[in-house]
Order: sequence, then C-alpha cells, then structure tokens
Amino acid sequence: MTVRELMEELFRWCADGAPHDYSSSCDTLKCGSPETEVRKAAVTMFATPEVIRAAAQWGAQLLIVHEPTFYDHFDRRLENDPVTAAKERLLKETGLAVWRYHDHPHLKDKDMIGEGEVKYLGLKGVWSKGKCCAVNRFLLEEAVTPRSLALRFRDVLHAGHVRICGAADLPCTRLSLCFGTPGGVFEELCSDEVDVVLTGEACEWKLGEYARDAAQLGFRKALLILGHIPSERDGMRLLADLMQERFKQLETRYFECGEAYVHP
Ligand SMILES: [Fe+2]
Ligand SMILES: [Fe+2]
Repeated sequence: MTVRELMEELFRWCADGAPHDYSSSCDTLKCGSPETEVRKAAVTMFATPEVIRAAAQWGAQLLIVHEPTFYDHFDRRLENDPVTAAKERLLKETGLAVWRYHDHPHLKDKDMIGEGEVKYLGLKGVWSKGKCCAVNRFLLEEAVTPRSLALRFRDVLHAGHVRICGAADLPCTRLSLCFGTPGGVFEELCSDEVDVVLTGEACEWKLGEYARDAAQLGFRKALLILGHIPSERDGMRLLADLMQERFKQLETRYFECGEAYVHP
C-alpha cells in the first residue's frame, strides 16, 4: 500500500459516510513522496527529532503526526532558521514521509482524539456534541471530583503537569472535552450545562480566573489544564491500535513523544 493509498483510506475512515470539503485542511503530506510503499507506519503526536530517529531506526517509511512539524498550522517553513533547517536535514537523511492527520479525526462524529483519551482513561458515560466544532460533552455514569480526575490523568495517562482551577473537590458528572486548544473553550466553561472543562492549554487570566471566581462564589465549576500533549496523544495511540487491527498488510507502531515541559 502506498502513502497515498493509506491517506485515502484514513480520509474515508473519518468521513462517517458524509461528503466533506477538506480542501483547506492541514492534513497534507509534509515531506516525502505519496508513491512510497508503506510496510511500516509510525504514529505519534509530535514529530520530535527523537521520534523521527526512533521511527527511522525501526524501519518506518511513514510517520503520521497529529500536530505541526514546523511550528505553523500549515507547516510553512521559517526562512533562515537554523532549527527548521536542521530538522529538514534530519528528515531528509531518514527518508521518512511525514503526514499530518489532524482535522479528520477531530471531525468524526465522535472525535477520535477525545475517544482515545476517554477510552484509555477508563471513563464510562454518554457522549454528545458540544457547542463548537471539535468539542464533545461527556456525561459520566458516576460522579467524580475534578481532583480525582486530575490524578487519574497523572497516574493512568502519565500527564506530568496537570493543573486544576476552581472547585477541585465537588463531585461532577458533566464534562466538556476541549482537548488540545479548540475554539469555544471559554463558552463551554461558562455554560450552565457544564461542570468541568478539560483542555490542553488555557489563558490563565481568563479561564483560570473565571473558574476560580465561580468556585469562590459557590458554583460547581472547574477547569483541568492537562497540557496539550497529554490531552490528545491517546487519540493517536487509539489510531495506531485501530490501524494494527485494520491494515494487516503493514505494521503500525505508536511512538511516544513525551511532554514538552521538564520539571525544574
Ligand atoms: Fe492539538
Ligand atoms: Fe488536535
């Protein structure tokens, strides 16, 4: 199967049967040839140099990423930038094709990225659509406190830098899943249908202070800031697991890119 054929399969996979105009999508090949034969596909959240080296050493022809490789939504390369040039050189040396799979999994009826997070976290409940694109709501079967949810992200999904704003210890059932940094997170936080917003990164003076004020004024309201990577990487882990089941003619492996932050 070529890179192009695999891309087309994965585009169709996320279309949920409905026609959709993806012409302005960022889900394009960032380097390499669409005609390359894929025998091994590596899947990751970010194509860090360490992931690129590990995937190449494993023998991958294709690296599927969720996020940009070159610090721009459409991966437009910075000119005269030494880091960009060094990363380009590394990719060229490995011969890897890099393809971004971002909009499609988010636009599935049940966002595939959120599905992976919820699945590997082990939460049980009912899904519904949020007010904005790429935002889902999740009604928990059993109430949990935001603090226990945060600890679960730390202990089960190895999120190393989770922060809680607002009412950390009030039991909640109504979650808004704003993984990554989608639009409309503040609106979700303000909604009287939502107890806890889970997001990747947030503006502290706005969202953090709203959640803190709400809690101090007696509202059941909290914000969990998980870090961008732990809030989405398990969606790519799910993709790798599903690809292993579905594409028997190639090997798929998930590569962990780790978090950008280090502890002081
Ligand atoms: Fe993201
Ligand atoms: Fe995302």
